[in-house]
Amino acid sequence: MRYAMARKAGLFITLLLVMINVPVVAESLTLKSIMQQLGKDFARLNQAILVEDYPEIEQAAIRIAEHPQPGFMEKMSMLAKVGTDVGQFKEIDEVVHKASMAIHAAAGKQDLNMIIENQNRVFNGCMQCHASFRKKLMAVDE
Ligand code: HEC
Repeated sequence: MRYAMARKAGLFITLLLVMINVPVVAESLTLKSIMQQLGKDFARLNQAILVEDYPEIEQAAIRIAEHPQPGFMEKMSMLAKVGTDVGQFKEIDEVVHKASMAIHAAAGKQDLNMIIENQNRVFNGCMQCHASFRKKLMAVDE
């Protein structure tokens, strides 16, 4: 009986993850290590913008846009902590994704204004998510 319930709960969580577009295949990276890499890629992006190195801007932007996701178990534990705010979490993640894709496209056209506009969007997204979720999720992989 308990086992059946646990299985149902497991199925429910899997469905929920699929619904919010989280791949069910596990990856070994932790959220923390992904964020540390994002920090480096963002610094690289800013440096490239300062010296107007467009190929470098393009590369850094795509690395931010296509950052890896944490493994399945960590995602489950993140979901438990984020709870009903998961929509907001996903929304901010999407803002960062779209803005970094826009930087990637603008770099191809050497459109510095468009790059800077979206650089601000990316940074606001980073800090907005941190303000709402960083403390809450910090202990996840510890
Ligand atoms: C959708 C939410 C979200 C977005 C967007 C986001 N972060 Fe994070 N970030 C987090 C969370 C949660 C943590 C805390 C992780 C931990 O400590 O385990 C974090 C932590 C960090 C850390 C600290 C890692 C450490 O060693 O303690 C850095 C650096 C970082 N993020 C960089 C970035 C950058 C740069 C961006 C934007 C390009 C960004 N983040 C966007 C949620 C987000």
